[in-house]
Amino acid sequence: MEYRTSNIEHRTFDLIIIGAGPAGYVCAIRCAQLGMSVVLVDKRKELGGTCLNVGCIPSKALLESSHHFHMAQHGLGAHGVKVQGATLDLPTMLARKDAVVAQLTGGIGMLMKKNKITVKTGWGKLLVPASAGMTPQVDVDGEVLQAKHIVIAAGSTPIELPFAKFDHTTMLDSTDCLSLPAVPKHLAVIGAGVIGLEMGSVWARLGAQVTVLDVATRPVAIMDEDLGHEAKKLFEKQGMAFALGAKVSAIEATKQGAKITYTDAQGAPQTLAADKVLVAVGRKAATAGMNLAEAGVKLTERGVIETDAHYHTNLPGVYAIGDCITGPMLAHKGEEEGVALAEILAGQRGHVNYNAIPWVVYTHPELAGVGLTEAEAIAKYGTVKVGKFKFSANGRAIAVDATEGFVKVIAHPQTDELLGVHIIGHNASEMIGEAACLMEFKASAEDLARCVHAHPTLSEAIKEAALASQGRALHS
Ligand code: NAI
Repeated sequence: MEYRTSNIEHRTFDLIIIGAGPAGYVCAIRCAQLGMSVVLVDKRKELGGTCLNVGCIPSKALLESSHHFHMAQHGLGAHGVKVQGATLDLPTMLARKDAVVAQLTGGIGMLMKKNKITVKTGWGKLLVPASAGMTPQVDVDGEVLQAKHIVIAAGSTPIELPFAKFDHTTMLDSTDCLSLPAVPKHLAVIGAGVIGLEMGSVWARLGAQVTVLDVATRPVAIMDEDLGHEAKKLFEKQGMAFALGAKVSAIEATKQGAKITYTDAQGAPQTLAADKVLVAVGRKAATAGMNLAEAGVKLTERGVIETDAHYHTNLPGVYAIGDCITGPMLAHKGEEEGVALAEILAGQRGHVNYNAIPWVVYTHPELAGVGLTEAEAIAKYGTVKVGKFKFSANGRAIAVDATEGFVKVIAHPQTDELLGVHIIGHNASEMIGEAACLMEFKASAEDLARCVHAHPTLSEAIKEAALASQGRALHS
């Protein structure tokens, strides 16, 4: 498909953004704030990409609702609140989730209007530039658009196992798992990563037997090792089963169920029967079907768009941000790249600090971390200062009955600079912001330890862990 010189709708756009997820729509807003005219293209009418439509937001809605169900059934008695005969109304739970999504995607539409951003619904693809040095044009379902800059923010899609394709009935991806019409009897989850643990938690709380298989030897292997081990213990207590170090070799799936064949950690052959299988073994850059390679954009073998530190691809005027470039596939990483790129295009000094990007798993308790894990810090600095504090010694945690988990603070052996903070505990997602903020300012562990934290709060455990890294925790 080639660059067209006639029949071009000559619009005065400075920028065409393909993909209206957190990276793309945030980039669009920041560009508009900086005086650029922007057209935002997305295949979906509902803006917000994977995050709002079939990712972060609907999963958090279901995690919250399923937690309430679990609490009504098992968690309120200890508080002296007796609930009898709590039953599940799954259609209402799913409808609430859909309403949350609709409210938020609608909100993005309003933000686009407010910022005078032109939105086009359709499939965007590049047209081959007429000559070297020209910025490609973009075809949106037959309409040709031209601009000074093009930003690819096309996101990511679930990775499929080569021997077990998604049939969306028995072999499920994360999107399918957000709308199951009934609670499965036995849900097998391949992949004990972020999606596996979150969706596994939802359906386990709603009554499914959940078995999580992973080739790794601990859940969320990307996070600090202590968090993974603690998470396994706590989720097992909740009834989830784990088969770790498991190499899955085949899955036979019919409409009625599936048989999973794997070798366990000891190398022994095993089979597992389940009525649904969620495959959550990671995501891949969604760069197929956009004519990128044909237009000359350099991609890695895995389809990831190669960029320089300023998000510029090898083609003049073509940029890429978010899940389709390198780095963690996190909405907030994409958003920050969107802002940074807009500022770079406006001649400012846009920048993302990749050392201070928090990670969160929204299970109960939650897992959150920022910076280096202990193993990474030791590999880099030899020895490090480590302070740990358990929520079981925190007054607020005892009062609210959330004593599971701990905070771990890692500091530089000589300078005391905060290198990493890792939390497994109630509301860890909200607490990790403090650590990310302090790390952005290059604070030391002592700075954190000397910050006044309101009492009684769970965040006092972070202060105590920082104190512990100095050898002087007060409450343990
Ligand atoms: P993940 O990378 O978090 O976990 C994938 C897991 O699958 C790993 O533990 C890996 O060892 C395992 N695995 C890979 N191949 C396997 C195989 N053949 N057999 C058994 N296990 C195998 O990927 P996940 O959970 O699919 O999530 C994808 C991405 O989506 C994440 O990296 C994250 O960036 C993003 N996400 C973020 C969320 C959040 O911030 N709370 C929520 C959901 C997704």
